[in-house]
Amino acid sequence: MQMTGNTILITGGGSGIGAALAHRFHDLGNTVIIAGRRREALEEAIGDRANMHALVLDIEDPAAIKRFAAELVTRFPDTNVLINNAGIMRFEVLDKSRDLGDAEATITTNLLGPIRLTDALVEHLSARPNAAVVNVSSGLAFVPLVDTPTYSATKAAIHSYTQSLRAALDGTIEVIELAPPAVQTELTPGQSNREGYLPLDAFIDEVMSLFSKDPTPAEILVERVGFLRKAEAENRFDQTFAAINDFARKARETKA
Ligand SMILES: NC(=O)c1ccc[n+]([C@@H]2O[C@H](COP(=O)([O-])OP(=O)(O)OC[C@H]3O[C@@H](n4cnc5c(N)ncnc54)[C@H](OP(=O)(O)O)[C@@H]3O)[C@@H](O)[C@H]2O)c1
Repeated sequence: MQMTGNTILITGGGSGIGAALAHRFHDLGNTVIIAGRRREALEEAIGDRANMHALVLDIEDPAAIKRFAAELVTRFPDTNVLINNAGIMRFEVLDKSRDLGDAEATITTNLLGPIRLTDALVEHLSARPNAAVVNVSSGLAFVPLVDTPTYSATKAAIHSYTQSLRAALDGTIEVIELAPPAVQTELTPGQSNREGYLPLDAFIDEVMSLFSKDPTPAEILVERVGFLRKAEAENRFDQTFAAINDFARKARETKA
Protein backbone atom coordinates (compact mmCIF):
# COMPACT_ATOMS: atom_id res chain seq x y z
CA MET A 1 0.00 0.00 0.00
CA GLN A 2 1.21 3.49 -0.77
CA MET A 3 2.14 5.10 2.59
CA THR A 4 1.97 8.80 1.75
CA GLY A 5 -0.09 11.14 -0.43
CA ASN A 6 -3.35 9.23 0.13
CA THR A 7 -6.73 10.51 1.25
CA ILE A 8 -7.81 7.98 3.87
CA LEU A 9 -11.20 7.47 5.50
CA ILE A 10 -11.01 5.73 8.89
CA THR A 11 -14.26 4.72 10.59
CA GLY A 12 -14.10 4.74 14.38
CA GLY A 13 -11.19 7.17 14.05
CA GLY A 14 -12.16 9.15 17.15
CA SER A 15 -10.64 6.69 19.62
CA GLY A 16 -8.39 3.70 20.19
CA ILE A 17 -6.85 1.91 17.21
CA GLY A 18 -8.64 4.12 14.65
CA ALA A 19 -7.35 7.36 16.20
CA ALA A 20 -3.82 5.95 16.51
CA LEU A 21 -3.84 4.85 12.84
CA ALA A 22 -5.21 8.28 11.87
CA HIS A 23 -2.37 10.08 13.66
CA ARG A 24 0.34 7.87 12.19
CA PHE A 25 -1.00 8.12 8.64
CA HIS A 26 -1.46 11.88 9.03
CA ASP A 27 2.14 12.23 10.24
CA LEU A 28 3.30 10.35 7.13
CA GLY A 29 1.74 13.02 4.86
CA ASN A 30 -1.74 11.69 4.18
CA THR A 31 -5.05 13.54 4.37
CA VAL A 32 -7.17 11.65 6.91
CA ILE A 33 -10.93 11.79 7.41
CA ILE A 34 -12.19 10.19 10.60
CA ALA A 35 -15.79 9.11 11.14
CA GLY A 36 -17.84 8.03 14.14
CA ARG A 37 -20.96 8.90 16.12
CA ARG A 38 -19.37 11.29 18.68
CA ARG A 39 -18.33 14.58 17.09
CA GLU A 40 -16.44 15.65 20.27
CA ALA A 41 -14.30 12.50 20.16
CA LEU A 42 -13.51 13.14 16.48
CA GLU A 43 -12.62 16.80 17.14
CA GLU A 44 -10.43 15.80 20.07
CA ALA A 45 -8.59 13.22 17.95
CA ILE A 46 -7.95 15.87 15.29
CA GLY A 47 -6.62 18.54 17.69
CA ASP A 48 -4.73 21.08 15.60
CA ARG A 49 -3.74 18.73 12.77
CA ALA A 50 -4.21 20.55 9.47
CA ASN A 51 -4.98 17.61 7.20
CA MET A 52 -7.44 15.74 9.39
CA HIS A 53 -11.21 16.15 9.06
CA ALA A 54 -14.25 14.85 10.95
CA LEU A 55 -17.46 13.44 9.51
CA VAL A 56 -20.21 12.14 11.77
CA LEU A 57 -21.52 8.67 10.88
CA ASP A 58 -23.65 6.08 12.62
CA ILE A 59 -22.66 2.94 10.73
CA GLU A 60 -25.70 1.08 12.09
CA ASP A 61 -27.95 3.20 9.84
CA PRO A 62 -27.98 2.14 6.13
CA ALA A 63 -29.52 5.43 4.91
CA ALA A 64 -26.89 7.40 6.87
CA ILE A 65 -24.13 5.37 5.19
CA LYS A 66 -25.45 6.33 1.73
CA ARG A 67 -25.68 10.04 2.67
CA PHE A 68 -22.24 9.88 4.27
CA ALA A 69 -20.63 8.28 1.20
CA ALA A 70 -22.16 10.94 -1.08
CA GLU A 71 -20.87 13.75 1.17
CA LEU A 72 -17.43 12.13 1.45
CA VAL A 73 -16.84 11.87 -2.30
CA THR A 74 -18.16 15.41 -2.87
CA ARG A 75 -16.00 17.00 -0.18
CA PHE A 76 -12.99 14.68 -0.50
CA PRO A 77 -12.99 13.39 -4.10
CA ASP A 78 -9.39 12.19 -3.75
CA THR A 79 -10.39 9.55 -1.17
CA ASN A 80 -8.53 6.39 -2.23
CA VAL A 81 -8.26 4.39 1.00
CA LEU A 82 -11.04 3.09 3.25
CA ILE A 83 -10.21 1.66 6.67
CA ASN A 84 -13.22 -0.19 8.09
CA ASN A 85 -12.28 -0.01 11.77
CA ALA A 86 -15.44 0.97 13.71
CA GLY A 87 -16.65 -1.84 15.92
CA ILE A 88 -18.31 -2.78 19.19
CA MET A 89 -17.68 -5.70 21.54
CA ARG A 90 -20.47 -6.76 23.89
CA PHE A 91 -20.49 -9.57 26.44
CA GLU A 92 -23.39 -12.00 26.07
CA VAL A 93 -24.80 -14.90 28.06
CA LEU A 94 -26.02 -17.79 25.93
CA ASP A 95 -27.54 -20.20 28.41
CA LYS A 96 -30.77 -18.25 28.95
CA SER A 97 -33.24 -16.77 26.51
CA ARG A 98 -32.52 -13.04 26.31
CA ASP A 99 -33.00 -9.73 24.58
CA LEU A 100 -30.96 -10.06 21.37
CA GLY A 101 -30.36 -6.32 21.04
CA ASP A 102 -26.62 -6.61 21.69
CA ALA A 103 -26.19 -9.50 19.24
CA GLU A 104 -28.11 -7.63 16.54
CA ALA A 105 -26.24 -4.34 17.10
CA THR A 106 -22.94 -6.23 16.91
CA ILE A 107 -23.83 -7.78 13.56
CA THR A 108 -25.14 -4.47 12.19
CA THR A 109 -22.07 -2.50 13.27
CA ASN A 110 -19.24 -4.98 12.79
CA LEU A 111 -20.42 -6.89 9.73
CA LEU A 112 -23.18 -5.05 7.86
CA GLY A 113 -21.43 -1.70 8.50
CA PRO A 114 -18.25 -2.55 6.55
CA ILE A 115 -20.26 -4.41 3.87
CA ARG A 116 -22.54 -1.40 3.32
CA LEU A 117 -19.82 1.24 3.45
CA THR A 118 -17.53 -0.68 1.10
CA ASP A 119 -20.44 -1.13 -1.29
CA ALA A 120 -21.20 2.60 -1.19
CA LEU A 121 -17.57 3.49 -2.00
CA VAL A 122 -16.31 0.64 -4.19
CA GLU A 123 -16.93 2.35 -7.53
CA HIS A 124 -15.36 5.59 -6.36
CA LEU A 125 -12.33 3.78 -4.97
CA SER A 126 -11.82 1.60 -8.01
CA ALA A 127 -11.47 4.74 -10.14
CA ARG A 128 -8.75 6.18 -7.88
CA PRO A 129 -5.02 5.46 -8.13
CA ASN A 130 -3.43 3.32 -5.38
CA ALA A 131 -6.80 2.40 -3.90
CA ALA A 132 -6.99 0.18 -0.83
CA VAL A 133 -9.56 -1.19 1.61
CA VAL A 134 -8.39 -2.25 5.06
CA ASN A 135 -10.78 -4.34 7.15
CA VAL A 136 -10.10 -4.58 10.87
CA SER A 137 -10.97 -8.07 12.11
CA SER A 138 -9.55 -9.62 15.31
CA GLY A 139 -7.54 -12.56 16.61
CA LEU A 140 -10.94 -13.74 17.87
CA ALA A 141 -11.92 -14.33 14.23
CA PHE A 142 -9.72 -17.41 14.42
CA VAL A 143 -10.39 -18.68 17.98
CA PRO A 144 -13.65 -17.42 19.52
CA LEU A 145 -14.20 -16.09 23.01
CA VAL A 146 -17.32 -17.71 24.47
CA ASP A 147 -18.22 -14.54 26.43
CA THR A 148 -18.36 -12.49 23.19
CA PRO A 149 -19.86 -15.02 20.77
CA THR A 150 -21.51 -12.66 18.31
CA TYR A 151 -18.48 -10.37 18.29
CA SER A 152 -16.18 -13.32 17.52
CA ALA A 153 -18.59 -14.53 14.82
CA THR A 154 -18.71 -11.10 13.12
CA LYS A 155 -14.91 -11.01 13.04
CA ALA A 156 -14.75 -14.52 11.52
CA ALA A 157 -17.25 -13.31 8.94
CA ILE A 158 -15.20 -10.18 8.18
CA HIS A 159 -12.14 -12.40 7.66
CA SER A 160 -14.06 -14.52 5.16
CA TYR A 161 -15.65 -11.51 3.44
CA THR A 162 -12.23 -9.87 3.11
CA GLN A 163 -10.86 -12.95 1.35
CA SER A 164 -13.68 -12.78 -1.22
CA LEU A 165 -13.31 -9.01 -1.61
CA ARG A 166 -9.56 -9.37 -2.21
CA ALA A 167 -10.10 -11.83 -5.05
CA ALA A 168 -13.02 -9.88 -6.54
CA LEU A 169 -11.08 -6.58 -6.55
CA ASP A 170 -7.74 -8.02 -7.59
CA GLY A 171 -5.93 -5.53 -9.81
CA THR A 172 -8.24 -2.63 -8.90
CA ILE A 173 -8.25 -2.19 -5.12
CA GLU A 174 -5.71 -3.66 -2.72
CA VAL A 175 -7.57 -5.43 0.11
CA ILE A 176 -5.82 -5.83 3.45
CA GLU A 177 -6.97 -7.41 6.71
CA LEU A 178 -5.71 -6.05 10.02
CA ALA A 179 -6.30 -8.60 12.81
CA PRO A 180 -5.34 -7.14 16.21
CA PRO A 181 -4.68 -9.18 19.34
CA ALA A 182 -5.99 -7.83 22.69
CA VAL A 183 -4.91 -4.16 22.73
CA GLN A 184 -5.31 -1.53 25.46
CA THR A 185 -8.23 0.62 24.24
CA GLU A 186 -11.71 1.34 25.64
CA LEU A 187 -13.35 -1.26 23.36
CA THR A 188 -14.69 -2.81 26.57
CA PRO A 189 -14.85 -0.89 29.88
CA GLY A 190 -11.50 -0.86 31.70
CA GLN A 191 -9.60 -2.47 28.83
CA SER A 192 -7.26 0.49 28.28
CA ASN A 193 -5.21 -0.42 31.34
CA ARG A 194 -5.90 -4.15 31.49
CA GLU A 195 -2.78 -6.15 32.28
CA GLY A 196 -1.56 -8.55 29.61
CA TYR A 197 -3.11 -6.49 26.80
CA LEU A 198 -0.73 -4.95 24.26
CA PRO A 199 -0.16 -1.19 24.82
CA LEU A 200 -1.70 0.79 21.95
CA ASP A 201 1.55 2.57 20.99
CA ALA A 202 3.53 -0.68 20.78
CA PHE A 203 0.75 -2.22 18.70
CA ILE A 204 0.60 0.70 16.26
CA ASP A 205 4.42 0.81 15.90
CA GLU A 206 4.37 -2.83 14.77
CA VAL A 207 1.32 -2.31 12.54
CA MET A 208 2.88 0.67 10.74
CA SER A 209 6.10 -1.22 10.07
CA LEU A 210 4.04 -4.07 8.55
CA PHE A 211 1.99 -1.63 6.44
CA SER A 212 5.20 -0.12 5.06
CA LYS A 213 6.56 -3.46 3.83
CA ASP A 214 6.68 -3.69 0.05
CA PRO A 215 4.33 -5.30 -0.82
CA THR A 216 2.10 -4.76 2.24
CA PRO A 217 1.11 -8.21 3.54
CA ALA A 218 -2.49 -9.20 2.76
CA GLU A 219 -2.90 -9.74 6.49
CA ILE A 220 -1.33 -7.33 8.99
CA LEU A 221 -0.49 -9.64 11.89
CA VAL A 222 1.60 -8.38 14.80
CA GLU A 223 3.64 -11.04 16.54
CA ARG A 224 1.24 -11.34 19.52
CA VAL A 225 -1.72 -12.39 17.34
CA GLY A 226 0.06 -15.40 15.79
CA PHE A 227 -1.02 -17.44 18.83
CA LEU A 228 -4.64 -17.10 17.62
CA ARG A 229 -4.20 -16.67 13.85
CA LYS A 230 -2.05 -19.77 13.45
CA ALA A 231 -3.80 -21.98 16.06
CA GLU A 232 -5.71 -24.12 13.57
CA ALA A 233 -2.87 -24.36 11.02
CA GLU A 234 -0.47 -25.41 13.77
CA ASN A 235 -2.93 -28.04 14.98
CA ARG A 236 -3.45 -26.50 18.43
CA PHE A 237 -6.95 -25.02 18.07
CA ASP A 238 -8.48 -26.95 21.02
CA GLN A 239 -5.69 -26.02 23.45
CA THR A 240 -5.80 -22.38 22.33
CA PHE A 241 -9.61 -22.26 22.62
CA ALA A 242 -9.35 -23.70 26.17
CA ALA A 243 -6.49 -21.35 27.10
CA ILE A 244 -8.15 -18.07 26.09
CA ASN A 245 -11.50 -19.06 27.55
CA ASP A 246 -9.96 -20.30 30.85
CA PHE A 247 -8.05 -17.02 31.07
CA ALA A 248 -11.28 -15.06 30.55
CA ARG A 249 -13.16 -17.19 33.11
CA LYS A 250 -10.42 -16.70 35.73
CA ALA A 251 -10.35 -12.93 35.06
CA ARG A 252 -14.15 -12.87 35.57
CA GLU A 253 -13.93 -14.88 38.82
CA THR A 254 -11.15 -12.63 40.20
CA LYS A 255 -13.30 -9.57 39.42
CA ALA A 256 -16.46 -11.05 41.02
N1 LIG B 1 -8.73 -3.34 21.28
C1 LIG B 1 -8.71 -4.63 21.02
O1 LIG B 1 -8.33 -5.45 21.88
C2 LIG B 1 -9.13 -5.15 19.68
C3 LIG B 1 -8.79 -6.47 19.35
C4 LIG B 1 -9.19 -6.96 18.12
C5 LIG B 1 -9.91 -6.16 17.24
N2 LIG B 1 -10.23 -4.88 17.61
C6 LIG B 1 -11.03 -4.09 16.66
O2 LIG B 1 -10.44 -2.83 16.46
C7 LIG B 1 -11.44 -1.89 16.07
C8 LIG B 1 -11.28 -0.62 16.87
O3 LIG B 1 -11.56 -0.89 18.24
P1 LIG B 1 -10.78 -0.17 19.45
O4 LIG B 1 -10.15 -1.24 20.24
O5 LIG B 1 -9.99 0.94 18.94
O6 LIG B 1 -12.02 0.33 20.35
P2 LIG B 1 -12.70 1.76 20.47
O7 LIG B 1 -11.75 2.79 20.97
O8 LIG B 1 -13.97 1.52 21.25
O9 LIG B 1 -13.05 2.12 18.97
C9 LIG B 1 -14.22 1.75 18.33
C10 LIG B 1 -14.66 2.92 17.45
O10 LIG B 1 -15.80 2.52 16.69
C11 LIG B 1 -16.70 3.60 16.64
N3 LIG B 1 -18.06 3.09 16.49
C12 LIG B 1 -18.71 2.19 17.27
N4 LIG B 1 -19.97 2.05 16.86
C13 LIG B 1 -20.13 2.88 15.78
C14 LIG B 1 -21.23 3.21 14.94
N5 LIG B 1 -22.44 2.65 15.10
N6 LIG B 1 -21.01 4.09 13.94
C15 LIG B 1 -19.80 4.67 13.77
N7 LIG B 1 -18.73 4.42 14.55
C16 LIG B 1 -18.91 3.54 15.55
C17 LIG B 1 -16.54 4.33 17.97
O11 LIG B 1 -16.84 5.72 17.83
P3 LIG B 1 -18.22 6.37 18.34
O12 LIG B 1 -18.53 5.73 19.67
O13 LIG B 1 -17.94 7.83 18.41
O14 LIG B 1 -19.22 6.02 17.28
C18 LIG B 1 -15.06 4.15 18.28
O15 LIG B 1 -14.29 5.25 17.87
C19 LIG B 1 -12.79 -2.60 16.29
O16 LIG B 1 -13.27 -3.09 15.04
C20 LIG B 1 -12.42 -3.76 17.19
O17 LIG B 1 -13.30 -4.85 17.06
C21 LIG B 1 -9.84 -4.36 18.80
